[in-house]
Amino acid sequence: MLWTLILAALLLLLLQAQLSVCLRELRSAVPAPADAAATTNATATANATQCLPGAIIIGVRKGGTRALLEMLSLHPGVAVAKAEVHYFNLEEHYRRGLGWYRAQMPASLPGQLTVEKTPGYFAAPLAPGRVRAMDGAVRLLLIVRDPAERLVSDYTQVLHNRRQRGKPYRPLEELLLRPDGAIDAGYKALQRSLYHQHLGRWLQRFPRGQIHVVDGDALVRDPFPELRGVERFLELSPRIAPSNFYFNATKGFYCLLPNAGQERCLDESKGRPHAPLGANARRKLCRFLRRPNRRFFEMVGRVFAWC
Ligand code: A3P
Repeated sequence: MLWTLILAALLLLLLQAQLSVCLRELRSAVPAPADAAATTNATATANATQCLPGAIIIGVRKGGTRALLEMLSLHPGVAVAKAEVHYFNLEEHYRRGLGWYRAQMPASLPGQLTVEKTPGYFAAPLAPGRVRAMDGAVRLLLIVRDPAERLVSDYTQVLHNRRQRGKPYRPLEELLLRPDGAIDAGYKALQRSLYHQHLGRWLQRFPRGQIHVVDGDALVRDPFPELRGVERFLELSPRIAPSNFYFNATKGFYCLLPNAGQERCLDESKGRPHAPLGANARRKLCRFLRRPNRRFFEMVGRVFAWC
């Protein structure tokens, strides 16, 4: 019994020590992340360890979070978690504790910045407080796009998933409009497009300067300037170049050209044709979103060309 307790205490100490080593490495920018990461020799590989993220892409769902993560992973000073972790928004994951969360992170070299993305964090009420409890200095990336277009994309994804499982689904207009023709403010996908509400919760826990807003529509048009902004925010050396992207006419989007390795586009679930939404319903949606959008612009100190 006594031995079990001693063993458990030792394990806990070991885990804590490892966590603080990772955090210390992240905060002391010595050596500079990109330069350190360039040292991809056998010794460096042996030094690889799993660290808590120094930056998290918190949303928005369907905003371009996968594209942002993949593009950021082009930077040699960044190690990204490929799969969405859903730690701060799912109880069954959160219950497993920080040790479990860290185990979901990729192996990283000393000085590399670990990044994970889970778009579900943005609208999850408990996520801001939980993220802060993990690390009050973590940097947050929020990629937004026109919230009306985001809603249609959100619906299209759910429709696609349900079709795949052979489940029926109602047309978008039936979900978005009430029988009297007014917008149904309770529709989940619409709720997720009320950016100001969700951002408000994050701003209660984090200073504005710790949240970098990426323009998802601009990222589609030309990824490089947005990525340069992210590098600056994360204090990474400028290593991502315009030559890391090329426009793929078949896909209709920019794809990635890593310095070493295969060129690649995002999978077919990203950038697929949207479900139809009639002009009248779209007009109502845009009118409904006008005020929430304005409040979001005030919060971030920036205006977006949304409908
Ligand atoms: P659509 O499928 O509605 O076009 P997320 O990764 O957060 O789910 O976001 C998906 C969205 O990323 C896609 O929405 C697409 O518009 C956008 N996106 C941005 N850059 C992209 C790229 N280079 N390739 C594919 N999709 C991209």
